[in-house]
Amino acid sequence: MKSVKVKAHANIALIKYWGKKDEKLFLPFNSSLSLTLDAFYTITDVKVIDGKSDVFYLDGKIQDEEETSKISKFIDRFRKLSNKDFCVRIDSKNHFPTAAGLASSASGFAALAGALNEIYETRLDKKHLSIMARKGSGSATRSLFGGFVEWKKGHDDLSSFAEKFDDANWDIGMIIVILNDKKKKVLSRAGMKQTVETCPFYPAWVEDAKKDLEDIKVAIKEQDLDKVGEIAEYSAMKMHATMMATRPSIIYMQPKSLEVINMVKELRHQGLSCYVTMDAGPNVKIITSSRFKDEIIDKLKNIIDKDKIIYSKVGTDLEILERVI
Ligand code: PMV
Repeated sequence: MKSVKVKAHANIALIKYWGKKDEKLFLPFNSSLSLTLDAFYTITDVKVIDGKSDVFYLDGKIQDEEETSKISKFIDRFRKLSNKDFCVRIDSKNHFPTAAGLASSASGFAALAGALNEIYETRLDKKHLSIMARKGSGSATRSLFGGFVEWKKGHDDLSSFAEKFDDANWDIGMIIVILNDKKKKVLSRAGMKQTVETCPFYPAWVEDAKKDLEDIKVAIKEQDLDKVGEIAEYSAMKMHATMMATRPSIIYMQPKSLEVINMVKELRHQGLSCYVTMDAGPNVKIITSSRFKDEIIDKLKNIIDKDKIIYSKVGTDLEILERVI
């Protein structure tokens, strides 16, 4: 029986992707750059089955027809490429809360693309695999790699892909503050569409993101935590400003998110290197290093349960854990 087990890590964008130029192909308006996280990952098992349709389990629960058909469409790309039409059973386990504004779809589709590449023997290299993963979820294109990863926006299917920018072999990490692990209300796909269509500042966001990307690349090469953090916080806050200025407004921030943001600003005032970033949910991620993390976590414990605060180091590339072909 053919089977494969693959592990992919989540990534958090420092320069955010928010908005598609081409919704079918998942081509973004701007290039983005992320940090891969060690503590959050998906492990996906794929097995060949005899049946006429795919079977999809997520976190141990069988998924309904709607969810399974989305995944089957993704698998169809591999079936077409390989000229093999067998169906598969997928068991995907997220080692963090699903759809909580932490990018579980990123590690999920990256792991799935990696597993399908093995089981259908499509032999795609990392660049082409990243193109495939992109069509599951935009941010998944970046989860094939460890360290700092750049998603080059490109202009068509084959020119839009991610690649490693830097190994991040220095002391940088993130504290993830989980404020809500329920499914989010406005999914990123719908949120970004609404922003593109109705936010009057959207063109400015796209234009400014170019400079942010150039600047953060320099800061990364200099291994300058403060510069990296400052640019990342700037990118995240601008993204949330575009979300809020839509019709109707989209507000992912919750009172607790603001409390954490203000606390981080205060700690920075006291000399600690820490900066915030946020995605399409209320959770706050604090960019910092192992040097400052304990002091920051101690302060956070005054306002948040300690089991909702997780420090993550830098994650690695997609990994094939088992392969029986
Ligand atoms: O590709 P999606 O649907 O996971 O959208 C990701 C959007 C953000 O997380 C807000 C930003 C990003 O670049 O990951």
